[in-house]
Amino acid sequence: MNRRQYYITTPIYYPSDKLHIGHAYCTVAADVMARYKRLQGYDVMFLTGTDEHGQKIEQKAREAKVSPQQFVDKVVTGKGGVLDLWELMNISNDRFIRTTDDYHVESVQKIFRKLHQQGDIYKGKYVGKYCTDCEAFWTETQLQDGKCPDCGRAVKDAEEEAYFFRLSKYQNRLEKLYEENPTFLEPASRRNEMINNFLKPGLEDLCVSRTSFSWGIMVDFDPKHVVYVWVDALTNYITALGYLNGKYEDFHAFWPANVHFVGKEIVRFHALIWPALLMALDLPLPEKVFGHGWLLLDGGKMSKSKGNVVDPYLLAKRYGVDALRYFLLREFPFGTDGNFSNEALISRINVDLANDLGNLVSRTIAMVDKYFGGQLPAEQAEDAAADRELTELGRALRDAYEKQMEAFAFQNALVEVFQVIGRANKYIDETAPWVLAKDEANHPRLARVLYNLLESIRVCAVLLKPFMPKTAEEIFLEIGAAPGNTTWEAAAEWGLLPHNVIIVKGPSLFPRIDAEQELAALSELAPASGAAEDTHVEEISFDTFEKVEMTVCKVLACERVKKSDKLLKFTLDDGTDKPRQILSGIAKYYTPEELVGKTVVACTNLAPRKMMGQQSCGMLLSAEQGESLTLLLLDDAIPAGAKLC
Ligand code: ME8
Repeated sequence: MNRRQYYITTPIYYPSDKLHIGHAYCTVAADVMARYKRLQGYDVMFLTGTDEHGQKIEQKAREAKVSPQQFVDKVVTGKGGVLDLWELMNISNDRFIRTTDDYHVESVQKIFRKLHQQGDIYKGKYVGKYCTDCEAFWTETQLQDGKCPDCGRAVKDAEEEAYFFRLSKYQNRLEKLYEENPTFLEPASRRNEMINNFLKPGLEDLCVSRTSFSWGIMVDFDPKHVVYVWVDALTNYITALGYLNGKYEDFHAFWPANVHFVGKEIVRFHALIWPALLMALDLPLPEKVFGHGWLLLDGGKMSKSKGNVVDPYLLAKRYGVDALRYFLLREFPFGTDGNFSNEALISRINVDLANDLGNLVSRTIAMVDKYFGGQLPAEQAEDAAADRELTELGRALRDAYEKQMEAFAFQNALVEVFQVIGRANKYIDETAPWVLAKDEANHPRLARVLYNLLESIRVCAVLLKPFMPKTAEEIFLEIGAAPGNTTWEAAAEWGLLPHNVIIVKGPSLFPRIDAEQELAALSELAPASGAAEDTHVEEISFDTFEKVEMTVCKVLACERVKKSDKLLKFTLDDGTDKPRQILSGIAKYYTPEELVGKTVVACTNLAPRKMMGQQSCGMLLSAEQGESLTLLLLDDAIPAGAKLC
């Protein structure tokens, strides 16, 4: 096989706090891709690292009363830090870059100097808005409701002498890139966003230096400036290969990258600024930027600053790293957002891993052990008709899987594998080995059935290896698959295990979890596992506030909702001809009778939702303090339908 190069990167993480399962999502995906490409015989360079400069880190270090370097060292290399997390998640990166590494600093300074000398960077004055959290400059027109368009937080006025990168000069070339190379940025939705939100309005030059703080890479020919953290960070993808430094020498072997995996909120940096910088440096562009979705918690982005983090250490300890890796890539497509919940995780483990995969392996191994003492007899009887569907599916699996993997459709690739697992389980029911076992004359047939099962398991395990490396190795051991039978080529072949294969009984791969008990245990651990109270009060604009419709309503009728301790069902006169139904969780505080005739306030443009099978069209306003709750009651003289303003 030809050795070919494959270069894949993850974003480099801000070590401003502990990483959460959302961060692990992208790195696990990149790890799966890297392992898959290695399996195919590629010479892989898988890079990840940490983005250690910037005002945010400087601030955090000040709060922690340590130097910025001490601060990042602790978060990156300390116990439970970034490096530990990647080890825990079984991340097989070939290189790890820290933007505080000397060689990176040296390259960034040279890049900045080069771009300045050739006129792509010039000195000017920056007047605009700055978001400290995102380390991003914005122009007035880019703000949304006056707030940072990425995180929605307040921005600060900023004016200072600064260097600028001539991003506008690359407008035409970037437009051409998007026109001529529709797959440069995927999924397509992100591409449209870049074109409509940034290219069409026209690119403005980008401020690429700061003078108001010092934790960054110094501009060596003008030391009061530090390099803008995103220019520093983006260049990691080439400095880590030795571009303009003497540390590594793989630049020519691996650049351009095959793919940069990045979260959707940082696509703009990777799909516009980064290619423009590369154009200025006269370097080839990466083949692809893939902007993945977010792992959400209760519908909101998991985030360090929100505090609702899910702890990967805790989850990995309870369910095993492979189960967690599997869940992350199986639950929803890589390009879209998906909700993380403990229920969904446990259900995936029970249904897919314990029931389907785990059972297939344990039943097969147990039968080889029970009926043949652990070694299949070489004399076997095929039944072409009965075996056809399984063997054909098994033979076709690798190609179907490859097609999905090449499109970064990890979820679909796993679905393909589990289709064969499902078919194999069905084959057990169809062939009923326990019946065949009763009659010695049927033993050659029984041996063939078990052999086909072992072969299905082998092919599936090879293809599951990038996702669940440890599990795949355990399976190979159990089914007696020698290394030669676990290669990429071997995954497309049927019948590679020797007929008289010897199996090795192992422990259960994925013990079934008692969901109810486990969820109760997790809720005890809730603060540690995430879902911590969100103390950050988000500000909303006046425009947003004005959209909320508050209406005075009269209670026409009120009753308890059956089977619910909490809910009361209100029929309200909201000043229109049609009565409005709202459910409210105040049954603990009021009897229905005492509320009839009262004047209340309801939010009347809230999207309707169902509770206990009943429609609720709005929300009644109450005041809550600790354990007590009081429904807001208004003066009865106020007519139904009056709007609060
Ligand atoms: O952005 N679900 O660093 P970062 C999925 N230093 N992905 C998530 C996530 C979630 N809940 N939360 C975060 C930076 N991420 C820069 C990158 S690259 C030259 C510089 C992803 O630590 C997020 O989308 O804030 C991003 O891709 C990555 O974690 C790093 O985020």
